[in-house]
Amino acid sequence: MQNKSGHFIVAIDGPAGSGKSTVSKLVAEKLGLLYIDTGAMYRALTLKAMRQKLNLGDGDELTELARSTKIDLQSISGKLKVIMDEEDVTAFIRTPELTNNVKHIACVPGVRHEMVMLQRDIGKRSSAVLEGRDIGTVVFPDAKFKFYLDADVEERAKRRHIELTAANQKINYKDIKDDVVKRDASDMNRNVGALKKATDAILIDTTHLSINGVVEKLLKNIK
Ligand code: DC
Repeated sequence: MQNKSGHFIVAIDGPAGSGKSTVSKLVAEKLGLLYIDTGAMYRALTLKAMRQKLNLGDGDELTELARSTKIDLQSISGKLKVIMDEEDVTAFIRTPELTNNVKHIACVPGVRHEMVMLQRDIGKRSSAVLEGRDIGTVVFPDAKFKFYLDADVEERAKRRHIELTAANQKINYKDIKDDVVKRDASDMNRNVGALKKATDAILIDTTHLSINGVVEKLLKNIK
């Protein structure tokens, strides 16, 4: 999408562990664009549903929750803060239990509708880099730049293992790999907003690339 004011969207999709978040943040920083982590929005909503002990199988209740929840992303001193109903929930949305529960929220059509509307609204205000699963296919199908990042499952599990070990979480590699495989399946097989490469997105396999290598590839395509 690019309007008369030169406003444009960079859409970056891909599975967990493909390097999307780090790369998206850096690309946004280098280009001076707003960075929108759409996964953080689904995570914030999941946190609220868990706190309220909602039935995660009740789509109507979850849709109502999405309609009545205010989610905002703010960049404060270069760090992305996730604000839900005026509360900074950034520190609470990445626990393994919550990560495991997001799939119940992300498969509800009414929830996705609300999130997509919100994401379009943010993207309309200024040029932005949006990362997620359905940005190039559903949220901004007319995005000026579209990328799909992918990597071998072993490499993605290895990256996650390093990340969790650094955060002092003791989970073995095999369990992490099983989890990555399960997440891929639920992301790719849901009925709405499923993870897939937009036909016009540029595919980048990050398996053997450094973060900087991936960032350079994206920037080369954007310039
Ligand atoms: O990118 P992430 O791992 O933080 O995303 C968390 C979950 O949210 C992930 O399981 C898939 C879901 N998600 C989604 O369904 N659509 C998006 N646009 C972004 C994330």
